[in-house]
Amino acid sequence: MDTIFTRISVRHFEPKPVEEEKIDKVLRAAFAAPSAKNQQPWEFFVVTNRDVLQELGNATPYAGPVRNATAAIVVAYRKEGLNVPEFAQIDCAIATENILLELEALGLGGVMIGTAPHKPQMAAVAKAVNMPDHLEAFTVVAFGYPAKRRPQEDRYDAERIHYVK
Ligand SMILES: Cc1cc2nc3c(=O)[nH]c(=O)nc-3n(C[C@H](O)[C@H](O)[C@H](O)COP(=O)(O)O)c2cc1C
Repeated sequence: MDTIFTRISVRHFEPKPVEEEKIDKVLRAAFAAPSAKNQQPWEFFVVTNRDVLQELGNATPYAGPVRNATAAIVVAYRKEGLNVPEFAQIDCAIATENILLELEALGLGGVMIGTAPHKPQMAAVAKAVNMPDHLEAFTVVAFGYPAKRRPQEDRYDAERIHYVK
């Protein structure tokens, strides 16, 4: 899959808004992710409101890119009724990667803002989107049309591969 090898974190965006059809495709990619026991713990908050983007941009020390993004998706998970709740954050991380890859495929770009497992930052993100109590914030993906592009760095390292034969 080419997008795996071209995706980069994008933190600067053009002011052009992202079309609803593209946001829909990104969400569909997120829902297509695998999850433990297929529990699909995720819920998604799609944010295009500038005031809320500003608040999300202050929710963690490294959330600055959200402030100049045209959109963000907050990835959250249900706290109750899960088969294997201990895997909920891992499931959300995989859904988040699907989001990042679909953004790349659509000519968009984005960056994951580390939120969970830090409770104060999870609470700040939840507050910004008025999240109901039965949900927990996992991360924020800030996205939009990239202001500039750069090639992905090659991180392949043969020394870190261990063949067990
Ligand atoms: C769990 C996680 C948390 C991250 N948190 C932030 C963040 O808070 N702010 C930010 O600008 N980038 C964040 N990033 C993006 C990383 O800095 C980025 O993925 C890394 O530097 C590699 O660069 P690349 O994504 O362009 O390949 C995060 C990435 C991951 C996977």
